[in-house]
Amino acid sequence: MEDKITVALPKGRLFDQTVNLFVKSSILPKPLKPESRKLIVEDDKFRFLVVRAKDVPTYVEFGVADIGVVGDDVFLEAKPDVYRPVDLKIGACQIVVAGLPENRELYFSNPSYLKIATKYPNIAKEFFKSKGIKVDIIELYGSIELAPLLGLADFIVDIVETGTTLRENGLVVIEPIMPSSAKLIVNRASYKVQNQQIKNIIKQLEETVC
Ligand code: PRP
Repeated sequence: MEDKITVALPKGRLFDQTVNLFVKSSILPKPLKPESRKLIVEDDKFRFLVVRAKDVPTYVEFGVADIGVVGDDVFLEAKPDVYRPVDLKIGACQIVVAGLPENRELYFSNPSYLKIATKYPNIAKEFFKSKGIKVDIIELYGSIELAPLLGLADFIVDIVETGTTLRENGLVVIEPIMPSSAKLIVNRASYKVQNQQIKNIIKQLEETVC
C-alpha cells in the first residue's frame, strides 16, 4: 500500500479557501470541520496537519509534512528550501508599506533612517535595503497597525487584503512592495520518493485553478 501524504494546512485566513480548493480538486472528500480542535485529520490517503500559517514552511522543509500551502508573504519571509510548483490563486493580498497619511511626505523625502514595525522582518529589511534606507525593525506578532498610531514606529510593513484594518485605524498604503498569493510547496525528498502521488495532487490542483 502507498504511504499516506502528509499535508500542512494553514490555520487562519487561508484555511477555508485551501480546504475548499482541496475539495473542489477531489483531494479532500469533504470539508474539514472548522470547529474541530483536532490538529491531525486523516483519511485513507492523506494526513492533514492543521498548523499556524507561519509554521507551514518548517513542517514541509523538515519533511514532517510532504506538502503544504503558504502565502508568498510567509514563504518570502522564511525562504525554505522546498519546491513551489503551483500558484493556487487564493489568499490574494498585497505586501505594503503603510502609515499615517501625514507621514507620506516624510517617506518620500529621502529619509536616511526609519523605524518599521512588522511581522515580516526579512521582507522589510530587504525592501528598505534596496531603497538605501537604514531601518530599525520592531518585530510584532499581530495588530501591527497599532505601532504608527502610538509612535512605536514610523511605518509598518504588512499585508493588506480588503483594506479594512488600515481604513478603520486611519492608516493608508504608502508604497506597495509586492502582490502575494498562496502557493503549494513540496518537500524535496517527498517529491522524489512519492513522486506519482504528489504529481497527481499537483495535476489535480492545476486543473482546478487554471
Ligand atoms: C492581517 C494583517 C492586517 C490585516 C489585513 O492580520 O496583519 O492586520 O490582516 O487585512 P484587511 O486588509 O482585510 O483588513 P490578521 O488578520 O492575520 O491578524 P493579526 O493582526 O493578529 O496578525
